[in-house]
Amino acid sequence: MTSYPRWTLRTEHSSYTVRLSPDGPWAELDAWGPLGVEDGPSALDWSRRTHFVTPADAAPAEYLPYGLRPFTGSELIAARPGQDRGVWWDFDGAEEGEGSLRLTFTDDVLGLRTVLCYETVPGTDVILRWTELTSTEELRLERLDSAAVNIPVTGTARLTYLTGQWSQEFQRTQLDLTRGTFTMGSLQGAPGHGYAPWLAVQDGVAEAAYGIALEWPGNWHMTAEAEPGGSVRVRAGRVPHEGVVHLTPGETLSTPRLACAFSPDGLDGLSRVWHRYERHLTGERLHRPRKVLYNSWEATGFDVDAAGQLELAKLAADIGAELFVVDDGWFTGRGDDTGGLGDWYPDPAAFPQGFGPFVEDIRALGLDFGLWVEPEAVSPASRLYAEHPEWVYRIEGRPARLVRNQLLLDLGRTDVQDFVIGTLDRLLGAYDISYVKWDMNRPPTERGRPGDGPVDLDAEHVAGYLRVLDHLRATHPDVTVEGCAGGGARIEHATLARTDVVWPSDNTAPLDRLSIQHGFLHAHAPHVMSSWVTDAPGIFDPRPRSLAFRFVNAICGVLGIGADLRAWTPEERAEAAGWIARYKKVRDVVHRGDARLLGTPHDSTCGVQYDLGDRTVVAALGTGRLDGAPLVPGRPDRLRLRGMDPTAHYRDTATGTTYSGSHLLHYGLPFRWSAGHDAGLVVLIRQ
Ligand code: DGJ
Repeated sequence: MTSYPRWTLRTEHSSYTVRLSPDGPWAELDAWGPLGVEDGPSALDWSRRTHFVTPADAAPAEYLPYGLRPFTGSELIAARPGQDRGVWWDFDGAEEGEGSLRLTFTDDVLGLRTVLCYETVPGTDVILRWTELTSTEELRLERLDSAAVNIPVTGTARLTYLTGQWSQEFQRTQLDLTRGTFTMGSLQGAPGHGYAPWLAVQDGVAEAAYGIALEWPGNWHMTAEAEPGGSVRVRAGRVPHEGVVHLTPGETLSTPRLACAFSPDGLDGLSRVWHRYERHLTGERLHRPRKVLYNSWEATGFDVDAAGQLELAKLAADIGAELFVVDDGWFTGRGDDTGGLGDWYPDPAAFPQGFGPFVEDIRALGLDFGLWVEPEAVSPASRLYAEHPEWVYRIEGRPARLVRNQLLLDLGRTDVQDFVIGTLDRLLGAYDISYVKWDMNRPPTERGRPGDGPVDLDAEHVAGYLRVLDHLRATHPDVTVEGCAGGGARIEHATLARTDVVWPSDNTAPLDRLSIQHGFLHAHAPHVMSSWVTDAPGIFDPRPRSLAFRFVNAICGVLGIGADLRAWTPEERAEAAGWIARYKKVRDVVHRGDARLLGTPHDSTCGVQYDLGDRTVVAALGTGRLDGAPLVPGRPDRLRLRGMDPTAHYRDTATGTTYSGSHLLHYGLPFRWSAGHDAGLVVLIRQ
């Protein structure tokens, strides 16, 4: 066996081996899979019998520029201004650290130094990959991907991804890719509602699953190509939508990080790898219990005033809510969505006794207080816009397009960032606020910054957004931050690392939500999944579900209430209080345990199992697929659990029934659904 330099990165249960190619100056994948998978000849080795392409085109290359890889997709396209495109480089050395690797390639003609960076994440099965570009010359970058990921495939590759639109995010979607190219992404200056920056690849035969997720709250793409030699090569990274990105001499540009995950246990196992990684991103904040929220948006809309909000807050406190959030509509000029954004001062007409006393009244009910803001937005009718028309994105001489009647601030500008930081500091300093919901309701359209020449606006906006979030975290460490963008349009690892929860979708109708959450939990952890019980009927699926269903569904993540409690009967409020009390008893298991997705929303029963220590919590939802009637009359539906010890016994804390692990694995938990009973929350204790 010929030996070439090889480097292996090891995570908890996986290893990733890169080698220098025998065929040319590039790094290529040697092996990626369970620990030890690298011991043996590389499964990606190939015959080298190709014709009409170069060896680089056929190689499982980790990162190649256009120039070296001319035909089959490259990760980097660069040129000096006015000159031909293309990079041809040589290997310039490797630096290996504890769980890290840096491979350097240099193109002396362009003065470009490219470093492929790898880092393992302790306690997870995730490897982070990104690329650093430094040049002695000014360069135009037309493509600047983060990494390429090679997955050997036997038979047809199965891609799983999360698709949607506003109010229908995170639909789990699958595609069998025999040959050809699959691309998804966003040009909306945010990940967008259309596709999550997350992809899973499995081969047609083995159970193992490989996943990637891009840490970038701006424009992005992921492109998977099924190659003739039996592998799928995925390229992922930023998209320079506003034109090329200019690399100035001496500057080092770091691409966004691409998190790469492996699980031998299919999509279900892969979801747990991602959950663990997101618990790592949350860090110490994971141990702060996520409080039961009441948010008044669905109850009062823009019709916000002190009396109405207090009435809702009292009802919310009575049923056990711990936090009251006033959503959109609390500030001056915000009677509807045509005005107010940018003028972040409480409306004195809505809070005649003052906003401070109102917040104190809420807190006197034993509730924390939270506030909605949309820091990047500005209404054309606002005072802010009158004072700073130059702060919005615009193209000189072109009309500014309104989306939801608003414009977007150029958050890449330091003065705009300082304004946003000042606004948040002022509000958090003036009032006893322990929760901030950061919303964003329009993408950039005419994205320009007059007079400033070519600027990387997408990256600057991202940097501004992250700077403000970092400030919020550092200056107000006890404040809980919710990330939102018209529902789930900005959910990725950079946001998740700086927030506590995110809002997956504006759609809170029970069966629609079930499907959204099922997809969401493939990529994201339960402790970040904000979920409300509301009165909303289904937008896409009008079948009614019980109050219990709405609660159990919301308990699958971070429970909140968004219903108009004024319209609820005393019986409904009592039932709600019961569910909230039960949630408080199990939330540590839901947020910190191992989660397993059981069934799908297309099955008669769909659920999630959470395991922590000796406790197992099962949230089971009867979807009504069988209209409440079991397939075999008299026999209940069953939800098979996973990961139980077959030899152990588990007691249902509500009924006292004891099951063997073997029974739970083989037959499952029974659920006897009926028209009035369509959800259950089971707590099992290992005996
Ligand atoms: C969109 C968000 O997703 C909703 O939850 C709500 O905050 C509205 N914006 C308010 O305008």
